[in-house]
Parts: sequence; structure tokens; C-alpha cells
Amino acid sequence: MDANVSEFSHIGDILVLPLFEGTEKAPNNALNGLSRTQRSLVNEALASESFTGKNGKHLSVWTPECRVVLVGMGECPSDKECRDGGAKTLAALSKDYGTNITVRFTTGWTTSMMALFAEGMILRDYDFDKYLQKNDDENQENWSLDCQASRRHQEILKSEVSKSVAITKGVHMARELGNEPANIMYPEEFARRATEWAKDKSNVEIEVWDYARLQKEGMHGVIAVGKGSERKPCMVFFRLNPTTDKNKQVPCIVGKGITFDTGGISIKPSAGMWDMKFDMHGSATVFGLFVALYESGYKGRVNGITCMAENMPSAGAYRPGDIIDTYSGKTIEVLNTDAEGRNVLADGLWKSAELDPSYIVDLATLTGACVVALGHEASGLWSNNDDLSARIHAAGNAEDEIAWPMPLLPAFEKEMTGSKVADVQNLGKGRWGGACTAAGFLKQFVQERDGEQIPWAHLDIAGTAWGASTNAMVANGATGIHVRTLHRLITE
Ligand code: BES
Ligand code: MN
Ligand code: ZN
Repeated sequence: MDANVSEFSHIGDILVLPLFEGTEKAPNNALNGLSRTQRSLVNEALASESFTGKNGKHLSVWTPECRVVLVGMGECPSDKECRDGGAKTLAALSKDYGTNITVRFTTGWTTSMMALFAEGMILRDYDFDKYLQKNDDENQENWSLDCQASRRHQEILKSEVSKSVAITKGVHMARELGNEPANIMYPEEFARRATEWAKDKSNVEIEVWDYARLQKEGMHGVIAVGKGSERKPCMVFFRLNPTTDKNKQVPCIVGKGITFDTGGISIKPSAGMWDMKFDMHGSATVFGLFVALYESGYKGRVNGITCMAENMPSAGAYRPGDIIDTYSGKTIEVLNTDAEGRNVLADGLWKSAELDPSYIVDLATLTGACVVALGHEASGLWSNNDDLSARIHAAGNAEDEIAWPMPLLPAFEKEMTGSKVADVQNLGKGRWGGACTAAGFLKQFVQERDGEQIPWAHLDIAGTAWGASTNAMVANGATGIHVRTLHRLITE
């Protein structure tokens, strides 16, 4: 979507008026440029019982040449209600009568409320419909948005809206990668898209470690998981502004990228297995984050590592009982091949410490247990550092991408380090606390620096990467979760 900011001027095909509860008559400027007939149609609708201004209610008014959409915002909308209001409004619009939207923010709107409403519209403007046949009479044009407000809002609103447009490019990229089915999106295809994206960008570097390189480097966590598939595993390294701040520690973001998770030899039941195409959303978020940082012009250096593999059962697949010699030198006893995310992350996390990061954040659709604990409303957040955890939690709240603190208890670590034949085992003793034991496992692969573990946080996005019907920013499918959280964490 291309989005503009201007004063009350030209009106497009659709005029959106977000209004507060109790508005009986159009506020100043709301109807500038409309004819007398159009104005009276809108004012009659406003005065009628049909529009109350209650939050979540809207009313479409036909006028000659322009459809006017009255959007109820309630009395005093929260940040979330402003962003959701924009998203729900866009979702309700039809392209049948044109694609130029004018939104007019009038009495009672602060600049930041306007920016949130606009951001909701921009974020919601994504559909994964590329594999659907199109009807000839369907309007395929993109939406264009003009946000209108009085002069004093112009400067800040302009910069906020263009920032939202930039960050949303990353969010939509993450969704697109997540939504692609596993016959299209396999490890090397992910690497190819990253390489392609970086091609003409002088401050972006992508390095791909293919199967041979993984073997040479000893990335046997990634290899073990991926070797059962015809589509071989790989690791993709993302670097933004690689030559800047060489002597400064910078963040490293690590993603789980299982392009399809059948469970492997410990195979999953077939019902719902199709959703396992989303099991690479951790990596999709990393890629999307780099797009967002690049598009918004971030000048600092940032590293990303994505661990890509397809978890398949085959004659070449790894098995329960196998002992993997990971990149760290620590061995893993495989008790369940379906607990594969932690095996690939073991290598990615150990590697990330070699980049001397200020902190490490990993993202993974890691456990069904996390969905049991938090539903689709929040990602689980584990960390060895209270300050980092608080910062991620706060960034998540600001973006309405909740990351909920979960405990990293020594008992969970102990459960994962009790194997008689290897340093670490990839399954807890029982099924209880499955998301916490997984985090306890990952912690074994965070290196120390000066006698202390490097600050690290783990986000289990199994419940938030897709399927959140309460997430107004998305129609369906992949959400692009935490691109915005991490963009805020890194840039502010
Ligand atoms: N990718 C799954 C986790 C998952 C399941 C995410 C459902 C979203 C929805 C992960 O690889 C997995 O299979 N985890 C197992 C771990 C278990 C074997 C310890 C799980 O959660 O059942
Ligand atoms: Mn699995
Ligand atoms: Zn998985």
C-alpha cells in the first residue's frame, strides 16, 4: 500500500471518518469538499440511531461519487483499539468502487492515535491469494491511502506513516515466507530469496552455508534434522551494515526454520499436519526483521542466523536413540525426532556467540506446550537476563505483540541434562512443562563470556505465528509476529 499524509484536500473513492462515541454531527473539516447533498446524507446518518460511535461499529453511507464510511472508535480508545480500528476498517472495505482511500482525522485525535490507526490499515493490507484464480471482474489494484489531518500534525504523522510503511514491508515479507507451502518453500529456496533480496543492496550481506559447508563446519544438529529430506538443510547468515560499528557489540537474532515438520521417524498424526509449513516462522521473522530494518534506514550493524531444514521420515532420516555431535561439541541424545527445533537451534545459538553479540534472541515455533500454556494470545519469553527480558516484554506491549515472561528454572535444565549417554537429551522426563524444558535445553547452547552467559532470550512463537483469530492485523495464515517487536527493541 502506498500511503500519504496531507491536509484536508482532495477526496478519493472512499472517505473514512473515524469518530468518537456521541458524535451527532460531522466535526469541522470532516466533510470539506463534499457537495451539499453529500453532507446532508452523512449528517443524517450521524444523527440517526444507526451510528452510535461505539467501538467496533461502522456504517457505510452511499453518496454520489463517494462512499463515506463512519467508523466508531468509542469514547476514549486505547492504543490497541486505534490500531485494531484501522485494521478492521481496511478489512471491511471493498475495492468494487475504487481503491483510493481518504481517512480524515478530526476533533479529538492526537497524532499518535492517527499514526496507530493508519498503521493498522497498512498492516492489514496483505492477502496470501497468489495461488487463487482471479475473476475478471475483481479489482486487482492496490489500495492507496491518504491520511488527512490539520497542519500541526503533518510533520510527525508523515514520518510515523512512512516508518509504518517501511516496517510493514518486513512484516509482510515474513508472512509471505511463512504462508508459502513446503513444496515451494524449502531450505534452499529460503536461501535463494534472501540472496535475491540482498542482491542490489550495498549494506546487506547474505551468506549461505550449503550442505557441504555444514558438514565441513560440523553443524550436525542442523544436518541430523535435515538429512532425511531430499531438500537439503542450510544455514543463512544475515548481516545489515556489516562494516559499521566493528568494535561494538551488536544484537544477533536466530531463527528456527523447519520448512516442514512431519515429526520425522517420531511421526506426527495427520490431522492438522498441514500447519507445519509454518514451522519456519522463526526464520521468516528474522528475514522480515532485516527487511524492516533496511527499509526504515537503520544505520547500526545487526546479525541474523537462520537454521533451515525439512524434518522428514526416510531411509536417510535421523532416529530416536541417535547421538548427535553438535557444533558446540556437546552431544545430544535424540529421544524424539519431533523435538527437532531445539536440535537445529543448538548449532545456531552456539554459532551466534562467536559473533560476540550484545545479546542473542531466538525465535521458534518450538512447542505445542507453549500453545497449551498461552493460547494464541502471547508468545512465551524465557531469558537469562532480566533487563533484556523486560525490554522485549515492553517492546512487545508497545506493538501489541505480547511476549509473556516464563520461568527458566534450574530444575528444567537438570531434566534436559540427565542423559546417561550424551551431554543433553532432547526430551524432558514427562510431558509437563514442555515449553520450559525446551527453553532449559536451549540454554545449554548459550556460550559464556567473561565467566557469565551472554544475555539471551528465547521466544516460543508456536501459538502466535499463525492461527490467532483475535489478531486484527491479519486475515489468516502467518502473522509476521515480532518483526515489529524486534525492530523496536533494536532501534530504540
Ligand atoms: N513444531 C513443533 C511445535 C508445534 C506444534 C508448533 C504445534 C505449533 C503447533 C515442534 O517441532 C514439535 O513437534 N514439538 C513437540 C516437542 C515434543 C516432541 C517434546 C511438541 O510440542 O509436541
Ligand atoms: Mn517437531
Ligand atoms: Zn517443529
